[in-house]
Amino acid sequence: MSTAQRPIGIFDSGIGGLTVTATIRQALPKERLLYFGDSAHVPYGPRTLEEVRGFSFAITEALLMRGAKVIVIACNTASAAALRPLREHYPDVPFVGMEPAVKPAVEHTRTGVVGVIATVATFQSELYATIVERFAQGVEVLHQPCPGLVKQIEAGEFDTPKTEAMLRGWLEPLLARHIDALVLGCTHYPIVRPLIERIVGPDVRVIDPAPAIARQVQRVLHRDGIEAPANGSGDLVCYTSGDPDGFSAMMERLGMAGAPVKQAHWREGSPLLG
Ligand code: DGL
Repeated sequence: MSTAQRPIGIFDSGIGGLTVTATIRQALPKERLLYFGDSAHVPYGPRTLEEVRGFSFAITEALLMRGAKVIVIACNTASAAALRPLREHYPDVPFVGMEPAVKPAVEHTRTGVVGVIATVATFQSELYATIVERFAQGVEVLHQPCPGLVKQIEAGEFDTPKTEAMLRGWLEPLLARHIDALVLGCTHYPIVRPLIERIVGPDVRVIDPAPAIARQVQRVLHRDGIEAPANGSGDLVCYTSGDPDGFSAMMERLGMAGAPVKQAHWREGSPLLG
C-alpha cells in the first residue's frame, strides 16, 4: 500500500480527541482515520508528564505499526508531555500536536485579559510556558486548571447541574477579571462548549484550536505529497483501551455513530491493536 493510502493515526486519553477527529474528517473526507482512545488511563491531566510521555510513545508505536502515515496527538496533555521528544525519536514521522490557542486569544482581546482552561499537567509543561512567553505580548493570560472536568465528560455528564456548578466555579472568577476570550486548552472541553458559552455569555469569545489543527494536518499531507487519493474511502476505525460499547455510545452522542470501535488491551506497556 502506498503511503498516501495509509491512515492518519490519532490519539487521546479518551473521547476528547474525537472533537479533533470530527473536524479532520470534515476537512479531509477522503482520509482514512485510525483513532486510539486510552480510556483505561483517562484522565491524563492529574498524572506526571513522564507517565503521559510513556503512554504517548507506546501508543505512537502501535499506530505506526498499523501503518499510520501521520500522527495527530489530539490531546493537549500528551502534546505537552511528548510532542518534542516524539519528534526527536521519530525524525521521519510527521507529527501534529495540540497547543493552547493563546495567540488568537491575544489577537482578539480588547480588555487585555484572556483566560485559558486546561489540565493541571498542561499548565505544568514547558510547552505552555513557552507559548505564553511568545504570544502574550503584554496581555494578561489567566490560567485555570479544571480538575475533574475530563472525568465528568467521560461519564457523559455533558450538561448536568454538577458539571455546570463545577464550570461556574472556575469561570466566574475569570469573568470577574474581565476576560473577553477563553481558550479551550483540552480537547475534551469542546464537548461542553454549549454549557461554557451559556456561562460566559456572548461577550466572551470561546476558542477551540481544532479547525487550525485540521488545517495543519492538511498542510503536512500536502507538503509530503501523501494526501489520500480522490477515491479514498475516508473510513474511521476506533480503538479503546476501555469498554468498546461505552465508547460507541459516546460516539453516537457526539454525532459520530457508525464507526467500528474495537478493544485494545495494554500488555507489558504496549497497547495491542487487534
Ligand atoms: N483531551 C486531553 C487534553 O487535551 C484530556 C486530558 C486528560 O485526560 O486529563 O488534555
